[in-house]
Amino acid sequence: MITSKSDIHGVKPVPGESLRKLFPFFTEGPGGCYLDSAATTQKPLVVLNALRHALVHTNANVHRGAYRLSAEASEQYDLTRTKIASLIGARSPSSIVFVRGATEAINLVAAGSDSLWSSGDTILLSLLEHHSNIVPWQMLAKRRGLNVAFADIREDGSLDVDDFRSKVRTLKPKLVAITQLANSLGTVPPLAELVALAKDAGAQVLVDGAQGITHLGVHVEDLGCDYYVFSGHKMYGPTGIGVLYGRPERLEKLYPLMGGGDMISFVSTDGFGLAEVPQRFEAGTPAFPEAIALGTAADFLSGFSRKAILDHEQALLESALEMLRGEPGVTPYGPATRGGHQAAVISFSIDRVHPHDFATIADTHNVQVRAGNHCAMPTLRRLGVQATVRLSFGLYSTKGDLQAVSQAIKEARRLFSA
Ligand SMILES: Cc1ncc(COP(=O)(O)O)c(C=O)c1O
Repeated sequence: MITSKSDIHGVKPVPGESLRKLFPFFTEGPGGCYLDSAATTQKPLVVLNALRHALVHTNANVHRGAYRLSAEASEQYDLTRTKIASLIGARSPSSIVFVRGATEAINLVAAGSDSLWSSGDTILLSLLEHHSNIVPWQMLAKRRGLNVAFADIREDGSLDVDDFRSKVRTLKPKLVAITQLANSLGTVPPLAELVALAKDAGAQVLVDGAQGITHLGVHVEDLGCDYYVFSGHKMYGPTGIGVLYGRPERLEKLYPLMGGGDMISFVSTDGFGLAEVPQRFEAGTPAFPEAIALGTAADFLSGFSRKAILDHEQALLESALEMLRGEPGVTPYGPATRGGHQAAVISFSIDRVHPHDFATIADTHNVQVRAGNHCAMPTLRRLGVQATVRLSFGLYSTKGDLQAVSQAIKEARRLFSA
């Protein structure tokens, strides 16, 4: 466990090149210019070790065995709840529900919030959302006869706050679900303002923190949101584990997505009783080794000052924008192109070069970038593009990665201008 900020394997917790020695992906694995951290991050050795330790030394099912090993595993599993509560500023560990990831968390809220809805009610989203913060609501709307509305974005990809305000006032949504950091464009909406507007209008607010948790951090109590969701694998933790934070009064009213072992207080041939929150949402054997390693990822992330993370990723964003602006035929997207708030992600297109072709060319330079719609079709359609190339940064990203992208752009232009 990381106990102090200088205790990350003896390396000073400073983002950048020197940090790569903490990530076996760079020292033993393929390494290279990995610029797809918004899809999934690389894992530091401490997290891999925590996973291995859990599987080797405390591998017994949680909350079941009366023997020491199971009690130890359960203790470690529940300790992660405490670490996550502290990471996100939640008052109580019982507000932390373990799920598979952000997608499952949103589906849980959408499927379990039946008592909230009457036919004709509205859910307000934004045009910045990832499909996983759209489709579960559309499925719910179809089932219950609800309306799904979208707050608009401007040409630069920033959220149109006036439109959001007006929709909150006129449509009176029962729930607003909004991203903290858009994975497609890197847009950072003014979250505190949006949450306040929604709460003033009496709406519940779910914040999609899948990107925000890693790059911006959060204090859910200060923010005042009702739900906050994220995935472990995007915050230097394992796959298959994520978090739904819910205010206690919300979780009490939420119905579980799945039934089974461990989520009941009793079962008889006539029926069952629900276990307390949060256990009632964690049916079956949870991904407990991954949850334990997520606790280590939370320690790892907390080992950096938030300012160091923001400064590092902002410097990379500015360099990327400068580099892209210097390349003929390249169009960068996102609020930063007009001085707006953007973080850790930049999307662009290259004249006459399809994003997929660019990604393939970049790959021959050992540069991994994402190309496509980034699971954000409504965002891209609103901007009038079908696909972009996306660079996304992590603590280990460097300006050297950007130079490699610049080389790949030059080669793509050369190949496709003939
Ligand atoms: C903003 C955002 N929300 C939700 C998700 C879904 O996360 P997961 O696939 O880990 O459930 C992603 C994944 O890219 C994302 O970027």
